[in-house]
Amino acid sequence: MRAARTGSLVGSAALVVLLAALAAATGLSPVGWAVGLVCAAVVVAVEVRGLSRYAHARGPADMITLTRAILTCGVAALVAESFLRTPPVGAIVALTVPALALDAVDGWVARRTRTASLFGAWFDGEVDAFLMLVLSVGVVRSAGAWVLAIGGVRYAFGLAGRGLPWLRAPLPPRYWRKVVTATAGIVLAAAVAGVAPSAVTEAALAVVLALLAESFGRDVLWLWSRRAATRALAAPGDGHAARDRLERALVRARPVAYEPGEFVGQESFMGAEEILALAARAGIGRGTSVLDLCCGVAGPGRLITRALGCTYLGVDSSAAAVTIARERAGEDGCRFEVAAVPPVPVGAFDVVLLFETLLAFPDKEALLREVSASLPPGGRFAFTVEEGAPLTRAERSSMPRSDTVWPVPLPELLGCLERVGLRVTWQEERSHAHRAVAHALARAFADDAPHITAHLGRRALDDLVTSHRLWGEWLQAGRIRKFAFVTEKTP
Ligand SMILES: C[S@@+](CC[C@H](N)C(=O)[O-])C[C@H]1O[C@@H](n2cnc3c(N)ncnc32)[C@H](O)[C@@H]1O
Repeated sequence: MRAARTGSLVGSAALVVLLAALAAATGLSPVGWAVGLVCAAVVVAVEVRGLSRYAHARGPADMITLTRAILTCGVAALVAESFLRTPPVGAIVALTVPALALDAVDGWVARRTRTASLFGAWFDGEVDAFLMLVLSVGVVRSAGAWVLAIGGVRYAFGLAGRGLPWLRAPLPPRYWRKVVTATAGIVLAAAVAGVAPSAVTEAALAVVLALLAESFGRDVLWLWSRRAATRALAAPGDGHAARDRLERALVRARPVAYEPGEFVGQESFMGAEEILALAARAGIGRGTSVLDLCCGVAGPGRLITRALGCTYLGVDSSAAAVTIARERAGEDGCRFEVAAVPPVPVGAFDVVLLFETLLAFPDKEALLREVSASLPPGGRFAFTVEEGAPLTRAERSSMPRSDTVWPVPLPELLGCLERVGLRVTWQEERSHAHRAVAHALARAFADDAPHITAHLGRRALDDLVTSHRLWGEWLQAGRIRKFAFVTEKTP
């Protein structure tokens, strides 16, 4: 957090220097200064809150995005000036052009430096929206108040999401959305600069508004059609104390359930050898860039990073799990972020992993589509999956936390993979080995009942034993089959 504050202080200082330069070059009234400084305070607050929410350390790409935000604060100060005197158009354009152009640079830097992150994607979107709002205020005097709809639409969407949670669900990446945002920025900048006759400018602004309405409208319809799945998705949660208690409660039982040397802090039925073999099949080696979705406390992730020398980003919706993962990783060179997936960070990863958690996603195609979109052609996605028909009502009532249990029939999974452009290169059934671990875990939990009950209570112990016995039985009976897959993104 100290690094975050230092970065913010540097950013604020840069803005003061920028405002002083603008004051010297074009003159800046107290109103201009006040607007610039208030905007900077808001930017810093929003960024620091985002850094903490995603538990993210600022990378080089984030510094570029912060620079865009600072330039936008400068534009805001000048736009405020334009209501008091002749608009300083040259200075506005001089700041707007790099603020727009750098939008193409931060994503590129994130991919090149292998520091792409969910925080980066989120902050970039916030800065785009801020710039759009400031520029639309800048053209109100020449084009009329209706242009505020261009800068306001993203904020209206955010506000609506406060009352309608399904609107807050992550959207799949769409290239067209980027095209519309870039077009809006360019047209607004041209309108501020007054480069075209006013009739042409107003027509272009109207087209931009129509494009935004179409783009947002399409997103809203998509979110509406998925609202049932959104309700069922795991929400990002904290529960620090609960996760910590769980780790302490199971610290003795878990290791004894695995063969010697096979326990590495995984929260799953996979053993160390299986984890490493799957990673190697996915082509992970020195320098490979790996994204581990739903990493938990990252037992598998830390093992793979240590053994194979890859670069690693683990993402989990539980801040508590990420804190534990980070503590355990120490100097291992792993990065972590707190976020619910989807979305999936785009573009900078050779391999995406999803171990032992596809089960928790009711809408598998939406997630797989995101994973596929995040990979370059030839990139690999390695995962494990629980195969079988959806649970019956009776099975649901016997399985604790059955709201996170969504098996998928194999033909349906294979169809999904093909539709999203992921070609299966390797698959292996793991039912036998996982059944043994499920049984062994159920036994180990029952044997350590006093210790687990002391930390979690009797009910939680019963649930743990019941669920692991059921998994063991289902795997034995073939009701559920476990598979490991490696897939490759098709060109
Ligand atoms: C069974 S653990 C698996 C952890 C790890 N992959 C392993 O094999 O040891 C599942 C993890 O997924 C996380 N999780 C569940 N739904 C998620 C979501 N939508 N986004 C991010 N993390 C999620 C949970 O917080 C939990 O830490």
